[in-house]
Amino acid sequence: MNPAHHRQKCVRCICNKWTILTILAFLTWLYRLIVYLSASNLQLVLVPMELANEKRAYCLDGSAPGYYFRKGHDEGENSWILYLQGGGWCWNISDCYERTKGRYGSSNEMQGTLPVGGFLSNSANSNPDFYNWNVAFFAYCDGASFAGDVNVPLSYKGNTIYFRGKRVLDLLLDYLMDKGLSSADRVILSGMSAGGLAVYIHADYIRNKFPPQTAFHAFPDAGYFPDVKNITNHDHIKEAFQNVIRLQGIENNLNTACLADQDINSKWKCFFPQYTYPYVTTPMFVLNSAYDIWSLWYILNVRCHISACDKDNLHHLTSYHDQFMQIAEPIYKSTKAAIYTSSCFSHVHTLQNTEWTKHLVNGTTPVAAFGDWYFGRKTVQQSKYWDCATPACNPTCDWTLNTFMYFASSNSKYDF
Ligand SMILES: *[C@@H]1O[C@H](CO)[C@@H](O)[C@H](O)[C@H]1NC(C)=O
Ligand SMILES: *[C@@H]1O[C@H](CO)[C@@H](O)[C@H](O)[C@H]1NC(C)=O
Ligand SMILES: *[C@@H]1O[C@H](CO)[C@@H](O)[C@H](O)[C@H]1NC(C)=O
Repeated sequence: MNPAHHRQKCVRCICNKWTILTILAFLTWLYRLIVYLSASNLQLVLVPMELANEKRAYCLDGSAPGYYFRKGHDEGENSWILYLQGGGWCWNISDCYERTKGRYGSSNEMQGTLPVGGFLSNSANSNPDFYNWNVAFFAYCDGASFAGDVNVPLSYKGNTIYFRGKRVLDLLLDYLMDKGLSSADRVILSGMSAGGLAVYIHADYIRNKFPPQTAFHAFPDAGYFPDVKNITNHDHIKEAFQNVIRLQGIENNLNTACLADQDINSKWKCFFPQYTYPYVTTPMFVLNSAYDIWSLWYILNVRCHISACDKDNLHHLTSYHDQFMQIAEPIYKSTKAAIYTSSCFSHVHTLQNTEWTKHLVNGTTPVAAFGDWYFGRKTVQQSKYWDCATPACNPTCDWTLNTFMYFASSNSKYDF
């Protein structure tokens, strides 16, 4: 066959409409199959509205709460990761009203699938110890670390706003109990950022919903927000958290042993991990950066990229680090908790493969450190990791502009 003839024949067959459609359909199917096989995606499950009504448990806007799910298999079949999503807090009524317009305040706005990596990944490569566990990722839509509970909904600009985070937590747990969680052999309660903070305040409470023989561990990520002053020497974060506690009726929904030890005016303390931690009895692995970028931005108000921080800012940064390590010292000394603090200017370490598998502290990645502790390959005493102290000293962190620029962009308002 001569080349010209060949070309002509093929042009004719490919131009056939049905051939093209068939090829397209096949490619679409193949693409879906590849996505399905390689996906770490979790699927959204909304709790039926009748059940939400029964428990009066709602997102800020009155919609029913939900969670993202992926089923476990093989050795992970009866093992569960309960993961509390973060996304900051809403600081006042108008801020909470703004949230009702998006997925952090309304399940009507939640996406149907959620791509996840890191500790929640289903890849045995990046997540060798937990890839086949059940994952229930509690969608955060209450704006107050799953801790609010105000009976009478508020009215704002003609809209009704609900502060029912604690009820959302209870409803999601009850609902999941009926879907197999009640027969779990092993449960790890984890969560990031505002959800990491929720792990400190709710760990013992959630633990008590399971029988004693269920192995239950807590793994808060990026939730150790310290009670420190900002760079102009004000108790900014303390006042801001106190406002959230008042607004959302949180005061009685914190660790009960911690609350029992406070006088009436200091119950707010139990919202801060540093004050509530000593009362937590659940075995815990604390994962946090000692230069957590959210804290640098919003607690201190230092917002320079490491290549452009002036002398004053560098001083504030190292002083923050030193205060943080001092505040974390009881955990380093504790015989019951493991701790891993990096000096990366990062926030969450459990949701993306890079932070989970690339950062090194004491030559160890978070994935190895956590798995070694959990499965007893290392003792608690061997699971105390801390990093070099000065800014940018750890070359395995991301020191490019990426994280910084993402944080500076408006997308990061909740996503971190
Ligand atoms: C509410 O909080 C937001 C976010 O912190 C702030 O921008 C706004 O000024 C506050 N509004 C009031 C009325 O305090
Ligand atoms: C420190 O906190 C106070 C009180 O919230 C606030 O007025 C001030 O602006 C903060 N300083 C900086 C530099 O953000
Ligand atoms: C990590 O490094 C620090 C500082 O070099 C050291 O004191 C500590 O014992 C190390 N921890 C582990 C678990 O190796």
